[in-house]
Amino acid sequence: MIYQDTINKIMDTARIEEVVGDFVSLKKRGTSLIGNCPFHNEKTPSFHVSVTKGIYKCFGCGKGGDSVRFIMDHEKYSYPEALKYLAVKYNIEVEEKEESPQVVEANNARESLYVVSLFAANFFSNELWTGEQGRAIGLSYFKERGFREDIIKKFELGYSPDQWDALILSAASAGHKEEYLEKTGLAIRNDKGKVYDRFRGRVMFPIHNFTGRVIGFGGRTLKTDKNVPKYVNSPESDIYHKSNVLYGLFQAKKAIRDADNCYLVEGYADVLSVHQAGVENVVASSGTSLTIEQIRLIGRFTQNVTILYDGDAAGIKASLRGLDMILEEGLNVKVVNFPDGHDPDSYMHKVGAGAFKNYIENNRKDFILYKADTLLKEAGTDPIKRAGIIRDIVESIAKIPDDIKASVFIRECSHLLQVEERMLMTELNKMRSAKFKKGGQGQQQYQQRSSGSSQSPSPYPEGPPDNLFDDDAGPDLPGMEVAADDDLLQEHEIIRLLLAFGHELVSWDNIDNMYIGSFIMQNLSDVTFENEICQLIIQNYKEEIENGHLPVANQFIKNDNRQIADLAITLSTSPYSLSENWYNKHQIYVRDETVNLKATILGGLYHLKKKKVERLLLGLLQEIKQEPDPANQDILMSKYAYMKNVEREISKFLGSVVIK
Ligand code: UTP
Ligand code: MN
Repeated sequence: MIYQDTINKIMDTARIEEVVGDFVSLKKRGTSLIGNCPFHNEKTPSFHVSVTKGIYKCFGCGKGGDSVRFIMDHEKYSYPEALKYLAVKYNIEVEEKEESPQVVEANNARESLYVVSLFAANFFSNELWTGEQGRAIGLSYFKERGFREDIIKKFELGYSPDQWDALILSAASAGHKEEYLEKTGLAIRNDKGKVYDRFRGRVMFPIHNFTGRVIGFGGRTLKTDKNVPKYVNSPESDIYHKSNVLYGLFQAKKAIRDADNCYLVEGYADVLSVHQAGVENVVASSGTSLTIEQIRLIGRFTQNVTILYDGDAAGIKASLRGLDMILEEGLNVKVVNFPDGHDPDSYMHKVGAGAFKNYIENNRKDFILYKADTLLKEAGTDPIKRAGIIRDIVESIAKIPDDIKASVFIRECSHLLQVEERMLMTELNKMRSAKFKKGGQGQQQYQQRSSGSSQSPSPYPEGPPDNLFDDDAGPDLPGMEVAADDDLLQEHEIIRLLLAFGHELVSWDNIDNMYIGSFIMQNLSDVTFENEICQLIIQNYKEEIENGHLPVANQFIKNDNRQIADLAITLSTSPYSLSENWYNKHQIYVRDETVNLKATILGGLYHLKKKKVERLLLGLLQEIKQEPDPANQDILMSKYAYMKNVEREISKFLGSVVIK
């Protein structure tokens, strides 16, 4: 664990514009800096950086946060990884808390595996460039295959000398323990207890995790002897888990994000060739068949995957099914096929970089259509086989979580397969309901409201009436819409006011020198927030005040609860968007809210109260309609009349305080 002091130091030193500026080109506009959002594709900038608040916010995709969050989101780092990144950037020494001896030992052991792997990568690279054998055999092999020096260097390729203990000896003389060589699989211990190098006389491909640390190796033989395995790979270890690693991702991730697409190939050599052709957004699953974890890893950077196949028909058929998995993860899948049995590597070297690039950009086919096409060709005119294909294709389409996308494919496939769209749709629905019965689940809908989940007294002890949101506010409030979002808007407005003005001292009428934060909280004692996140913030604020602290906006902006932080960021970076829309709606012309802070604050509070009363009234009305007992009806009616009066009073008050 990193010490809080160190974290504070990092947070104080890191400047949002510098941290973001390393990845996004920012221009000054008004009080903030803006640029094109690095998290989604856009042509007109909607990505804002507030230097004074130390935060960023994209109004296009909604992403926002502070420097650490930016690095976590952009580089897909964990929290401590992001802190360490910033520490390196600003040259701050990271002090970490002592963990339990077991944790320290485990961390040290893992760290030692990384260190020894990096040592080995340097050793192999050194051998390739300066070793006699390495230059004569390894480097000339790469050159012969047409790999440029810059690519060989970028991927840190190397050579392992053809002897039993070259690495072991070199590691020992540099002070590395044999234990760690064994744990990474770089050295193997035989039955007689003797250790020897795993990689001997091979060209070496170091495998990096996506933060760029070496975690394993693939070694290719240079012999043509069929009895020698073509590749020897590092085994699984504490730092190398094959199922969640993609070869080349570290070198490709920026390009993947820029192109919003990831090319997927089969082998190390393919990655190098495609990269060398100037198409840098390429990774390989190298050896293992594609796993869910690998697909999700890609999904962190882009939703679009393009598979570059070698032309071998058997291979294609085998992998068609595996690709459904990618669809299931919601990614879009395209396929490029190479002619005459070429793979990406051989085709690149045959036609050259420019032609290769053109080819893959102009020959992408959507996976579903490609699959339909391939299977149809194979089935010929056999009607039974054709029927099987229809089921097979619809099965793939059924995996697509997005309904709109799925229906587009249904339409296109109906042309291709020459069957009615309606029939495919029926088939699709059958498969989907079968999937549900098997225990699959639909997408969870984002719940905007929680009912009855708070502890404070609620105007709706059993939760709000069901019809609250499909009803109108009633004849008494002409021209005022009660949209489902309206309450939320006003709950947000209160939070926004708290964050923006909580620390302002005011003296109004009968209050004297009071913080707006405390004033607002006092006035909220009879209000329950429907939105869970708003309620959490209010609860938190209240508790702090009760403990004698006045909370600052940063507490919420940097909250551990991501939803709280997100909301706080949104509300404190869009100063007028909410209120402007809101004031317009109520035809109240208070533009610069700081000019009449009293009107702003009271307006916020009493609009919220009014909304709550309106909801209460609606609930009462419903109750009255459903109450069979006239005596009870009378009681409800008088309750209604009382609340109606409260509502009128609030409106009057609002009119007097705000419209001026
Ligand atoms: P390929 O045989 O296509 O390898 O296997 P390649 O990288 O294109 O190599 P070249 O072009 O012959 O030099 C694809 C991938 O399968 C894994 C490797 O990750 C390889 O890159 N593989 C292949 C193994 O792990 N072991 C093997 O014996 C063969
Ligand atoms: Mn190959």
